[in-house]
Amino acid sequence: MTETKTDSIRTFSGPLSNPARDAAIHTEGLSKVYKDFWGRPKVEALLDLDLTIHRGEVFGLLGPNGSGKSTTIKLLLGLIFPSKGRGYVLGQPAGSTTINEKIGFLPEESYLYRFLNGEEILKFYGRLFKIPRRELNRRVPELLDIVGLDAKSRKRKLREYSKGMARRIGLAQAMINNPDLILLDEPTTGLDPIGTREMKDLIVSLKDQGKTVLLCSHLLADVQDVCDRITILFRGKMQTLGSVKDLLQVKDVTQIEASGLTPQQIEETRLFMSRMGAGNAQITHPTTTLEELFVRVVQNNGDAAKRDIK
Ligand SMILES: Nc1ncnc2c1ncn2[C@@H]1O[C@H](COP(=O)(O)OP(=O)(O)O)[C@@H](O)[C@H]1O
Ligand SMILES: [Mg+2]
Repeated sequence: MTETKTDSIRTFSGPLSNPARDAAIHTEGLSKVYKDFWGRPKVEALLDLDLTIHRGEVFGLLGPNGSGKSTTIKLLLGLIFPSKGRGYVLGQPAGSTTINEKIGFLPEESYLYRFLNGEEILKFYGRLFKIPRRELNRRVPELLDIVGLDAKSRKRKLREYSKGMARRIGLAQAMINNPDLILLDEPTTGLDPIGTREMKDLIVSLKDQGKTVLLCSHLLADVQDVCDRITILFRGKMQTLGSVKDLLQVKDVTQIEASGLTPQQIEETRLFMSRMGAGNAQITHPTTTLEELFVRVVQNNGDAAKRDIK
């Protein structure tokens, strides 16, 4: 589709539907080619990403290492510039300084000031956002409670923090400005199963507060429970998009469920079903696992063995 065509469609659809303005995140043909030292194209990290993430949604960006997830986040934050295409965040072009205070970001690696303690780092970031001192004195302990850092940990220097503690303080830092949109890059790295569960509960509570969350992960279990919709990226290309439930439903098979049947009843049910009609029997489509879907999508798109392993 040419530029002119896209523009005319937008005009005809009128002001009622304009995802660039209304969606939490909207991208059109967003692409990134990293250049080498000499300015020659080196890696096509993201190719023609067309994506709309609605406000209030928890959206999962899934993909193996090197598939372009962090690149997408960096483009949305305006930390790097697209080679082609456009991105909009909270109704503004990606990178607009006017929306900075409405966005929270947990980077893949948090570069924290190692000689500050947990409490101090949050106060430091709070001051960057010009949050009044009184408000900050209330908010900092509240956030530390939310992310589960106890009284002892919050007084320890960050250089002594474990990976899991660093992730927690990173999340608190991402929420210091009470943002509308939160971008989380691999939020559960380094967390044990309990920590992972807590992180997922936190993400769900952010949604309950009406916030939009974009969650990047290569860990399937991270996204299966918490995301409304997901997309799978592979080699910079979007492979599939939809709600977890829809993507996992096996539509060409029907499953009939009932509990408490005796063997005789089961046999009778079978006979009965063969003749048609069923009382309280539940008829559903069985679901596959996200792991199966993921492997299928990735394998369908080239020899998985040849993919860049980072
Ligand atoms: N600054 C950079 N310069 C060159 N190549 C890069 C740079 N950052 C990322 N890449 C490459 O771009 C691709 C996508 O990277 P990334 O977005 O970090 O993937 P993911 O977050 O999904 O693991 C990878 O092949 C990676 O090596
Ligand atoms: Mg990454």
